[in-house]
Amino acid sequence: MTEKISTGIEKLDELTSGGFIEGSFVMLSGEPGSGKTMLSNSFLKEGLNNGENCIYVTFVEPEEKIAEYGRSMDIDYSKYEKQGNFKILDRPVGEEMHVEDLTTEIIDEVNSMNCKRLVIDSLSAWILGFPEGQKKRRLVRTLSRLLDRVNCTWIGIVEHTPKIEEASFEEYLADSVIYMETKFKDNVLKRELKVLKMRGSDHARNAYGYIIDEDGINIGGPK
Ligand SMILES: Nc1ncnc2c1ncn2[C@@H]1O[C@H](COP(=O)(O)OP(=O)(O)OP(=O)(O)O)[C@@H](O)[C@H]1O
Ligand SMILES: [Mg+2]
Repeated sequence: MTEKISTGIEKLDELTSGGFIEGSFVMLSGEPGSGKTMLSNSFLKEGLNNGENCIYVTFVEPEEKIAEYGRSMDIDYSKYEKQGNFKILDRPVGEEMHVEDLTTEIIDEVNSMNCKRLVIDSLSAWILGFPEGQKKRRLVRTLSRLLDRVNCTWIGIVEHTPKIEEASFEEYLADSVIYMETKFKDNVLKRELKVLKMRGSDHARNAYGYIIDEDGINIGGPK
């Protein structure tokens, strides 16, 4: 039986027929400033509120920034950290060797904390250390399988303009893909969220407008 877990955003739960599939790899793709980090924070907030242990791996912004975003969304990451329920791994984009070491580190941490929700911000920055396409794919696949085995649901953020015609290997490997599109229309910034796929589950097929405010992502009606 496929178990669903709440995404932390009520409307996104609706669009995904009840949330993300437990243990699955959710790829979140979007332009700069489209709200990928915000959505990921809501996902972790939901887990922490439910007593699940969570890990945030950051290659993009420093640990202090993540804590600050958390505070602005009413998440006290430092409290959860002290209790042993949360960990931020702030790591530089490394060389090939370090990419493999970090995979082992993540899996070890997930196992020792019994982590149920993980965010990698961003997968693109992390695998920059791998020059070869095949190795990148193998790494993401291995990670994905190991996390599935221990029912750890994870968001892998991918930094690119979401375009199905230019789908990357992550889109094929991921169990679910969410596009957060940001574009200027008549000189005004417009945002749209789309669920591209969700293996083994029904999901919304429309594009949905959304805004970002201090509470996070607010998804509106279909376009
Ligand atoms: N309190 C707020 N009120 C309104 N909009 C906000 C607020 N906080 C953040 N935003 C919007 O959210 C954007 C940042 O979202 P976020 O950091 O999640 O994007 P991102 O997709 O992770 O970007 P990047 O790829 O650069 O990391 C800001 O550029 C701004 O437009
Ligand atoms: Mg971000």
